[in-house]
Amino acid sequence: MAINIKTASEIEAMRVAGRLASEVLDYITPFVKPGVTTGELDRLCHDYMVGVQGTVPAPLNYAPPGYRPYPKSVCTSVNHQVCHGIPGDRVLKNGDIVNIDVTVIKDGFHGDTSRMFLVGEASIAARRLCQVTWDCMWLGIEQVRPGATVGDIGHAIQRHAEAQGCSVVREFCGHGIGRKFHEEPQILHYGRPGTGDRFEAGMIFTVEPMINAGRREVREMADGWTIVTKDHSLSAQWEHTVLVTDTGFEVLTVSAGAPARPEPLTAVA
Ligand code: MF3
Ligand code: CO
Ligand code: CO
Repeated sequence: MAINIKTASEIEAMRVAGRLASEVLDYITPFVKPGVTTGELDRLCHDYMVGVQGTVPAPLNYAPPGYRPYPKSVCTSVNHQVCHGIPGDRVLKNGDIVNIDVTVIKDGFHGDTSRMFLVGEASIAARRLCQVTWDCMWLGIEQVRPGATVGDIGHAIQRHAEAQGCSVVREFCGHGIGRKFHEEPQILHYGRPGTGDRFEAGMIFTVEPMINAGRREVREMADGWTIVTKDHSLSAQWEHTVLVTDTGFEVLTVSAGAPARPEPLTAVA
């Protein structure tokens, strides 16, 4: 099946959805402190989306084939949790790292973004993993232009992660996004340059590498959603929703509080 190319009006709607998703992360930032529970963070985000923004939290009751309905409005993945952590009674403590992943629906269109948060004072190892993962996301995004391929993104990410002694999770990937939460193409975060789907202006997809400090293997918890590293090593993730433009890319999940795009990165090694 072909990858859908967004029209000008669809792109405008995706800019709005992307900005709103990013603004949920801006809103929640001051609450991510030692002592808060992941369930409280979920409730705050939910109330902001529904009550202030008039958006719909896409994760709530989301049930792809083979999954039970997701029970909360955001994902909170702490320390060795890789992704899809379900908010609950867990109290965040000094030194934890947590990914908050927000997907909103506005006027039928999805915006999907996540950031890492350091709770109190994180260890050097934890800070380094978050930085490596941030760099991986940007090295991937910077590959995006018409004529480039999914493999170009994957290669840029894998090369940097592995040069830094980290590993790339294989089981989950970025994805096309629009009227549906998950569309074609799949954006693998590893691969070989020049392979896979080729980009055209008007495509919109996420880049959302999950990078482990240890080995790449993961397993699913009994809740049917939470993914953790098999070796219990720390895992980090950053996510943006990106449009392919005539000359390169435009990041759609931007807002006043979003960490700034770095100067174009050159991978080490
Ligand atoms: N937001 C995640 C992504 O980036 C998907 C979460 S699905 C959920 O693709 F059901 F767990 F919310
Ligand atoms: Co996503
Ligand atoms: Co997401």
